[in-house]
Parts: sequence; C-alpha cells; structure tokens
Amino acid sequence: MKVDGKHYRTVWIDPKDGDVVRIIDQRKLPFEFVVEELRSVEDAAVAIREMHVRGAGCIGATAGFGMFLAARESAGTGGDLMARMRDAGEILKATRPTAVNLAWAVERQLRVVGEEEGEDVRVQAARATAQEIADEDAEWCRRIGEHGLDLIREIAARKGENAPVQVLTHCNAGWLAFVDHGSATAPIYAAHDAGIPVHVWVDETRPRNQGARLTAWELGKHGVPHTVVVDNAGGHLMQTGQVDLMITGTDRTTRTGDVANKIGTYLKALAARDNGVPFYVALPSSTFDWKRRDGLREITIEERGGEEVSVIGGSPGRGEAEVEVRLTPEGTVAANYGFDVTPARLVTGLITERGICEASEAGIQALYPGF
Ligand code: MRU
Repeated sequence: MKVDGKHYRTVWIDPKDGDVVRIIDQRKLPFEFVVEELRSVEDAAVAIREMHVRGAGCIGATAGFGMFLAARESAGTGGDLMARMRDAGEILKATRPTAVNLAWAVERQLRVVGEEEGEDVRVQAARATAQEIADEDAEWCRRIGEHGLDLIREIAARKGENAPVQVLTHCNAGWLAFVDHGSATAPIYAAHDAGIPVHVWVDETRPRNQGARLTAWELGKHGVPHTVVVDNAGGHLMQTGQVDLMITGTDRTTRTGDVANKIGTYLKALAARDNGVPFYVALPSSTFDWKRRDGLREITIEERGGEEVSVIGGSPGRGEAEVEVRLTPEGTVAANYGFDVTPARLVTGLITERGICEASEAGIQALYPGF
C-alpha cells in the first residue's frame, strides 16, 4: 500500500544493499514512520517478540526472511546448516505462540531447504522461499479483497446509493498485519477503490491500541472514512443499527472454523449474533491450523506483560515524540491475555483467497479439499 505516494510492503528484502531485510517498525506508528534493518535471525526474533512487526501474515513473512538470515549466517562457518536452521526455527517459533503463520513459515523453510544439497544452494532456496511466502501473502490478501468486495457490494445495493456500508473491525488486520492489502481491510479497500461508500468503525483495541494507532493510520492514508470507538462501544452501535457488517482477521483458525483473534473479538461476535449483524472473518489459508479441531481447548493464548495494560503511550501534542504514562496505581497487578477464541457457531462465514465459506469443517473442506 502507499505511504505518502510511495508503495511499501511491511517486510521486504533489498538486493541493492546486500540482501538486507527491512521492516516498518510498527511500534512507532502513527507518530513516526521508521524503517528498520534486520541483519540476523536474532534481529528477526526480537522484531517479532517485541512487536516491531505484528499481525499473523507479517509475522509469518518476517519469520520466513529470518530463516533466510539464519541460513546465510551459518554458511561458511563449518557448522551444520540444517541444524542451525532448525535451532533458528525453534527460536522464532518461541517468540509468539498464537499466530500459526509463524510456525507455518518456519516449517515450510525447513522442508524446502532440507530437500536441497550444498550450502550455497540451500541459502538461495531459503531466500527464494522467503520471497515466495511474502509474495503469496500479498496475493492471497488481494484475492480476499475481491471475494469480500461481493459482500459489501450486496449490502450497498440493499442500502441505496449514497448510504455508506458501515463495517466494524477489531484490532489491526490491515496491510500492516500482512505483507500488503490486509485480510479484514482488503474488502474495505477494494470497495472504497470501486467507488462504493464505506465507513469503518475502528475498535481502539486495548491494551496496545492496534485499532486506534494502526488501523486508523492506514485507513486514513488510503482515504477511507473511519471513526475510532472504545472497545465497549460495539454492542451499542449494533443495537442502534449502525453496523451492517463485522469483519475481523484471525491469528489461527482451526479446521472446524473456531477463530482465535485479538482479545475482545468473542464479545463482538456475541453482540453481532444477538443483533443479527453478519460476522465475517478474513484469512489466507496460511492461518488455518489443519491439525487442530477445538479452538478453546487446543489453541495456546499468548499472555503478555501486565505493563502493556498499566502503561499507555501517546503523543502529548502535534508532532511531539511519544511518551508513556501510567494508568493504574503503582503495584497494581494487571492480566494481559492477547487473544480469545470465537466458536465457529458465531461466525457467519470465512473470507479466504479461494472464496467465502461456512465456518465449519465441511465448509472449509469444500474450498480446501485434502487439507
Ligand atoms: O498481537 P498482534 O497485534 O500481533 O495481534 C494480531 C492482530 O492484529 C489481530 O489479532 C488480527 O485481527 C489478526 S492478525 C491478521
């Protein structure tokens, strides 16, 4: 997507600069736009763990590039390159447990590189695979946009010409959470670009405020009308007929359609069901966890430090650097569960790169036979 007229991906490799990997440091947005260099697998692990990059697809693509950096670091040292890559994969996988794209990218690298012989060939295979993962992610999100556009178009036709389609989204499943386009936002961008009036309610998404900071920033850069609301406003908006459609992303979805996503998603899904608002989840196939059937029992929910809840960052004024302030009394204990699971029965449908399906094993299998 474009930032001030220049096209960016969230993570990319620069062949003109010794194949350095670059990322947008998302911790600084929306106050500063900073590009950071990753030169080692350790850099990639820190970037994922400390959330310089975040969001399922972006984490997966960064892990893919991290595995390339691990292969390159190992080559020529006399060590066993595959053993080094396996260790690097474990380090990367331990950074964040919930988004399955991370493990998926690591396993893919190990499979592809393991089929090759010779250090140079293996390093080149790791580079090509990292690039393929990133390109696929961008293309799959673009297709999610095309399929989701049909849904928005139908609602727009029902509402009449000038009434905007009102979409509520949670967290940031935008282009920043992927390599490009986003999952939940891809249909929104596609509709906006097709001239369909859309307005987005953006949940601020405590504690890290990915909605208020990142979704609002990227929608603004693209010119999509939007309004940030506190996380608890969604129920009221739905009861008063101000939401036509909910679209969220997901960090891991089971083969039966249970959806792990940013904490608070489940409550929105309950409110959507109570109010007859369609609740869609957008995901590329790299976010399906084909090995798991029961999201509540089998998905590990990341718990992060309590200071993310107790301390909040923001800019004190126009253009001023970000500062942090404490919200709670010193010493107060805060719990910080990163994600929750929305059972498949509350999900109206899944928007994937292959089309839209029911959130059920049969529905998913119809689009992904043999998985
Ligand atoms: O903790 P984060 O910011 O990495 O959480 C991921 C998310 O942004 C959301 O849960 C998102 O809706 C799914 S990731 C595409």
